[in-house]
Amino acid sequence: MYDHVLYQNTRRAPAIMKMNAIRSRRRLHPWPVRIMHWTNAVAMVVLIGSGWGIYDDSVIIHGVYFPKAIRLGSWAAESLLWHFAAMWLLVANGGAYLVYGVATGRLRERLLPIRPSDIVQTVRDTLRLKLAHEDLTTYNAVQKILYIVAILAGISQVVSGLAIWKPVQFSGLVALLGGFQGARLVHFAGMAVLAGFLAIHVVLALLVPRTLWAMLTGGPVRQPALPAVAREAAR
Ligand code: HEM
Repeated sequence: MYDHVLYQNTRRAPAIMKMNAIRSRRRLHPWPVRIMHWTNAVAMVVLIGSGWGIYDDSVIIHGVYFPKAIRLGSWAAESLLWHFAAMWLLVANGGAYLVYGVATGRLRERLLPIRPSDIVQTVRDTLRLKLAHEDLTTYNAVQKILYIVAILAGISQVVSGLAIWKPVQFSGLVALLGGFQGARLVHFAGMAVLAGFLAIHVVLALLVPRTLWAMLTGGPVRQPALPAVAREAAR
């Protein structure tokens, strides 16, 4: 709303105003983010369930099995088919999410910075069970950390998965991960991180249903961020 005053003497004024107008029409979660988020969620759930089916055929941690009821695929070969199908979906869709996030600046804008004081504040709020953030447009420090961990774990799964799938072609990668069993262990640990993330993430989304609704429908229309010069002028 300050645009015409602020930029009237600037040659870039029309471009800046146009950019702000486009931004101001954007929803909190634009449709590409929503489609990619839910597709990733489906791919992850299929990968975890089918991964448990493959794992049970040759366990890594003695005595640790996953019950048949929560495995995807009635036997290892069937689980493997599900795993590969979802793997391609995750690589294509997760890759698209990362490219979109970097190209539009969304990942940086939403997930950074993470200040130590914000972490302390979030932990205090959580201990007081103050979860329902009024402002849907910003993630708290713990959310940011969880999302970054989930994204990094997803990337680590693809890399360690490649090493297990084609150990001869990716022998350098296998060596880097401490051999074939090492790569399996890294892949298993990544699954545990993602399954833990998923459990916390779903509980939080159900505790604050407004966020779930926003991830389904797009959420509120965002106000454009005021540039530094405008913030100064508005004081
Ligand atoms: C393993 C699967 C999943 C992964 C990796 C994942 C990852 C993410 C990430 C990275 C974000 C931030 C998106 C952004 O702003 O660009 C996000 C947001 C969100 N996710 Fe998920 N998600 C998964 C599954 C789910 C499921 C199953 C639900 C439903 C219960 C869900 C509900 C939400 C909601 C409601 C938000 C917005 C949170 C807020 O605005 O406070 N996610 N998710």
